[in-house]
Amino acid sequence: MRTQVGIIGAGPAGLLLSRLLQLQGIDTVVLENRSRDYVEARIRAGILEQHTVSTLIDAGVGDRLQREGLPHDGIFLQYPGTRHHLDFPELCGRKVWVYGQTEVTKDLISAQLAGGPPLLFEVSDVTPEDVDTDHPRIRFTDADGVSQVLECDVIAGTDGFHGVSRPVVTAGTSGLLWERTYPYAWLGILADVAPSEDELVYAWHPDGFALLSMRSPSVSRLYLQVDPDEKIEDWSDDRIWDGLSTRFALDGWELETGPVTEKSILPMRSFVSAPMRRGRLFLAGDAAHIVPPTGAKGLNLAVADVTLLATALVRLLAEKQTDLVDSYRGRPLARVWRCTHFSWWMTSMLHRSGDDFDAELQLSQLRRVCSSEAAARELAENYTGLPLDV
Ligand code: FAD
Ligand code: PHB
Repeated sequence: MRTQVGIIGAGPAGLLLSRLLQLQGIDTVVLENRSRDYVEARIRAGILEQHTVSTLIDAGVGDRLQREGLPHDGIFLQYPGTRHHLDFPELCGRKVWVYGQTEVTKDLISAQLAGGPPLLFEVSDVTPEDVDTDHPRIRFTDADGVSQVLECDVIAGTDGFHGVSRPVVTAGTSGLLWERTYPYAWLGILADVAPSEDELVYAWHPDGFALLSMRSPSVSRLYLQVDPDEKIEDWSDDRIWDGLSTRFALDGWELETGPVTEKSILPMRSFVSAPMRRGRLFLAGDAAHIVPPTGAKGLNLAVADVTLLATALVRLLAEKQTDLVDSYRGRPLARVWRCTHFSWWMTSMLHRSGDDFDAELQLSQLRRVCSSEAAARELAENYTGLPLDV
């Protein structure tokens, strides 16, 4: 098999990269080690920045997003006694959309399977080779158990945090890694109940953080800060709803409850790996960096990376110019670090550490964001998404 760009991983980063390159006449093959059903059912992010939305629409995969996505003009910040709305269009002229990552993935997969470039599910033993030459290749075993070799001009490693690409980049470069593991986790649920508030609520509470989000007018997504070593079996639906009701409590308002259809515990980590390139192997998305979900940045960062990478690869493969692939080594990282800071800041402001001095600092910061236009604008600009080059 031969292609111009071999793409490892069919998450949002790999699928969108394939789509953007196809629109520019560049051939790709996408290799994914999970099944289509598994990839389409994986519940993850829910908030799309304006740049992400316009990228998907421009790429011709935004029809359902425009019909079913929920535009949100802001978020609520809550601490005991106060629920304050931040109006994003007023503060910075932008807004965000609620549209689940599962839906983005389904839209990209169906466009790709309807006459787009090859997308192979359930492959195994994926190994990028000879990435320091102009003729790299990917060895893999296909879904029928047959060994295959994919000859490429370039390989894109969009295989997420646990993928095989990043270790190849770090092994061959004097790479740097930065990591922060947070002493809390999120217990997330999906519930068949109309969201109790029309926009997201980020709540600080002495018992710990809680987030009210949604997937549609009839499906709520809610999160509760828990210890990282908590077991999901110890959290009955009643215990979860009780915890959520306590943390979101506000006079005159009630949290509606309903059947829980999914629940899981997510660890929280910041991670950045540099450079994002070794020879002809390029990293994008979670393969290169992850952020805690408090800033809703993970998926949006992956989209920003592949937007830059697609332009750089078109310049290399169609125009034979190396300037943009050369600068890709580090160019996305300024924005990655901005989003890493914002996600860390939101996480630090909202999660209960157990230390009362920390709690007073957090409440002071929350009161500041809820009373100063300058402080609110800083949050709004970061939350709705900064320009690709910061
Ligand atoms: P991924 O979505 O991880 O896609 C990588 C793909 O590569 C996967 O399909 C994987 O199966 C495949 N793959 C891995 N290894 C191989 C291999 N060896 N060969 C072939 N294929 C391979 N962000 C938010 O903003 N809000 C959230 O609430 C949120 N929740 C999250 C919950 C979880 C459990 C996780 C893991 C992430 C969450 N994120 C969230 C982050 C967000 O989902 C990611 O930033 C986003 O998925 C990044 O997209 P990606 O395409 O780079 O990586
Ligand atoms: C979600 O809806 O899953 C979601 C929304 C906002 C976040 C994190 C997760 O900050």
